[in-house]
Amino acid sequence: MNLIHSVFDRFEHYLIKQAPKVASFHPYFEVALWEMVLNGGKRFRPKLLLSVVASYKPKMLEKAFAPALAIEVLHTYSLIHDDLPAMDNATLRRGCQTLHTKYDEAGAILIGDGLNTQAFYLLTKAKLKPKIKVKLIQSLSYNGGIYGMVLGQALDCNFEHQNLPLKQLKTIHLNKTAKLIAASLQMGGILAECDKKTCKILYKLGLDLGLFFQIRDDIIDATQSEQEAGKPTHQDSAKNSYVNLLGLEGARIEAKNLENSIKQQLKPLKAHKALNELLSRYFIF
Ligand code: IPE
Ligand code: IPE
Ligand code: MG
Ligand code: MG
Ligand code: MG
Repeated sequence: MNLIHSVFDRFEHYLIKQAPKVASFHPYFEVALWEMVLNGGKRFRPKLLLSVVASYKPKMLEKAFAPALAIEVLHTYSLIHDDLPAMDNATLRRGCQTLHTKYDEAGAILIGDGLNTQAFYLLTKAKLKPKIKVKLIQSLSYNGGIYGMVLGQALDCNFEHQNLPLKQLKTIHLNKTAKLIAASLQMGGILAECDKKTCKILYKLGLDLGLFFQIRDDIIDATQSEQEAGKPTHQDSAKNSYVNLLGLEGARIEAKNLENSIKQQLKPLKAHKALNELLSRYFIF
């Protein structure tokens, strides 16, 4: 096993151990809180962060686990809310029942809220210099909040049943998905104390990668079974998606163009080896 895979394995063990203890007389709060985090998923965002740290400052890897978990926890909250009846109304996530179907809607909303704030609590508790912590908190809150993911989700839901032009569809995808993926690379750069220029390059690359990732997700909705995807598919008929606007082949061409641009942008970076290896399985769609 190469170094980076053992890092990913150690991160997974770390994540399991970080289940918050919240003793109370609530019948399921403590268990359900970490349940969707434990259900797995690809861990794409933590792996991006850890790949950057492994490439630029491997000594920092242990200390990078808390910020990597913070991103995964915030992302998991976004999935729990994305699946709610008021949003995408999905019954399956990460191969398991969604929280609102297994428990109830109020519980799922509140566990989402809880994971959102827990992400920032984890960052404040990390064993890092205060200056680095503030930068990490800023990156995650900017990209995961009202200037990023939350805005994107609001646009996505508001414009269901209305066909938007490509420029606006791209804005939705950049906000709802790409900014958090860009933040994952940026936070890796912050942890490794990369220079400003490198952090900027990582962020810009992350936006293209995130757009690619959401187009690929739109393709998955159109082409995979529920079992393969671990979530309901063929659900995007009322959505603004790349497949709906450009057709399956058109979406694949957009994804391919982004793949080529990402590979070019990776070339001069010290992180190119680790990131190329991580991304190779995603460049299949
Ligand atoms: C799903 O994200 C939501 C999108 C932004 C497309 P992932 O595809 O990363 O989901 P998990 O984390 O593997 O479950
Ligand atoms: C969701 O996009 C992006 C998020 C911010 C969670 P989708 O609604 O397409 O994600 P899936 O397909 O349900 O995972
Ligand atoms: Mg959605
Ligand atoms: Mg959805
Ligand atoms: Mg989708």
